Amino acid sequence: MSNVTITNHPLIQHKLTIMRNKNTGSKEFRQLVGEIAMLMCYEATRDLPLQPVTVETPLVTAEFNTLAGKKLAFVPILRAGLGMVDGVLQLVPSARVGHIGLYRDPETLKPVEYYCKLPGDISEREVIVLDPMLATGGSAIDAISLIKQRSPKSIKFMGIIAAPEGLEALKAAHPDVDIYCAALDEKLNDHGYIVPGLGDAGDRIFGTK
Ligand code: PRP
Ligand code: URA
Repeated sequence: MSNVTITNHPLIQHKLTIMRNKNTGSKEFRQLVGEIAMLMCYEATRDLPLQPVTVETPLVTAEFNTLAGKKLAFVPILRAGLGMVDGVLQLVPSARVGHIGLYRDPETLKPVEYYCKLPGDISEREVIVLDPMLATGGSAIDAISLIKQRSPKSIKFMGIIAAPEGLEALKAAHPDVDIYCAALDEKLNDHGYIVPGLGDAGDRIFGTK
């Protein structure tokens, strides 16, 4: 069964509270998405495998750890997931980045795929899927199914706000995927928006409406 981690560090809670405020503009909102993604990435990469290397310090020769293997690929779900990319790349600059384009049909709330480009060597990488909002869970579930067709070493999902409905749906559809979220909110409304939430993440990041 999926491990679920709510990364509710005080710095993350503080930044997320500012994001929730409807008077916070796109410039600040975008910056905060990036900062929260970076802080969450620290937690989501806690179990990355290490391998020893021999290093000559100015004093002695000794063994120390480095990251093992081909490491990471981040896969943002377009559009809103793009807002998290710069933050995670600040921590893992050598990671590869794939992109999956999905939008929710406003009537059915079902995800519609319009783009998929993943790193060629994804089968040798641990994948972290990025999307700030886990609402019904449909977008994350479909994105992860697409990635699984390419057999990566592992997949994690990193979001900012989850609704209970989306969290349960994602756990049921992909029990092998560990989930990291900064907050678990109360519910979805009749239009599939997370309550209390922060509104439409894509629109708030990119200043569209
Ligand atoms: C938002 C969000 C997620 C999705 C979550 O994207 O970024 O991808 O909704 O909803 P779900 O869990 O019910 O699938 P949206 O469809 O608004 O597209 P956008 O990012 O291009 O604005
Ligand atoms: N997508 C968003 O951007 N916000 C929500 O509350 C739900 C889906």
